[in-house]
Amino acid sequence: MALLEVKNLHVSYGSINALRGINFEVNEGEIVTLIGANGAGKSTTMNTIMGLLRPKMGEILYQGEDISHEDSSTIVKHGITLAPEGRLIFPRMTVLENLQMGAYTVSKEVMKENMEESFKLFPVLKERLSQIAGTLSGGEQQMLAVARALMSKSKLLMLDEPSLGLAPLLIREIFDLIKRINQIGTTILLVEQNARMALNISDRGYVLETGIIRLSGKGSDLAKDPKVVAAYLGNLD
Ligand SMILES: Nc1ncnc2c1ncn2[C@@H]1O[C@H](COP(=O)(O)OP(=O)(O)OP(=O)(O)O)[C@@H](O)[C@H]1O
Ligand SMILES: [Mg+2]
Repeated sequence: MALLEVKNLHVSYGSINALRGINFEVNEGEIVTLIGANGAGKSTTMNTIMGLLRPKMGEILYQGEDISHEDSSTIVKHGITLAPEGRLIFPRMTVLENLQMGAYTVSKEVMKENMEESFKLFPVLKERLSQIAGTLSGGEQQMLAVARALMSKSKLLMLDEPSLGLAPLLIREIFDLIKRINQIGTTILLVEQNARMALNISDRGYVLETGIIRLSGKGSDLAKDPKVVAAYLGNLD
């Protein structure tokens, strides 16, 4: 049984049909990437899994159970976390307060352990605990957003464009980090505009085109697929 199984999912915003019957799955331990152009429905997919949007039709099975009608506070308790697009940290709070906000579902002891683990991944955050989060650099804010998402010790971590707006060197760091987070036992669903890098660290990938999945396969195969290369990867690097 897959950890997450999305079946015939339809999601609309009024008359706009953003998802038109998509099917995909994420197995325990995998990194799976969704790629697709702007407006394809990637964020909609993640927000619906997180319970922030309601499907018009279809099912979202998590460990075999349909969670598509649960609210996000229940979904967080199942061990699903979303680091949303656009670095949503709390800018007026300190780094420490931001991390605490991510851990509201766990006990004090677990929070401490998770925080120590985050500091191993992001030593800079440990040095900046009392800094106001909005004054961190863009890359540091992104690290904080990912660290905050990790605080709840999720089983399934969904990252919506974690490299958005970062310098190339930091983008590499973020991808290395995603691999490390996966190696310590977190299953990852990733959405990325940096399709080549994302596919190269992914076990499998899906290509979403205006609300429909057009292609799927092993990450390394998709990264070589002529249609994917032409539409999403170009000739760079
Ligand atoms: N709140 C909303 N109201 C109306 N339409 C919306 C809303 N949110 C998204 N949409 C539309 O739904 C479609 C899918 O949007 P979505 O944000 O899921 O795309 P995306 O694949 O994440 O794109 P991007 O790569 O630009 O982040 C788009 O056509 C978008 O305009
Ligand atoms: Mg998006």
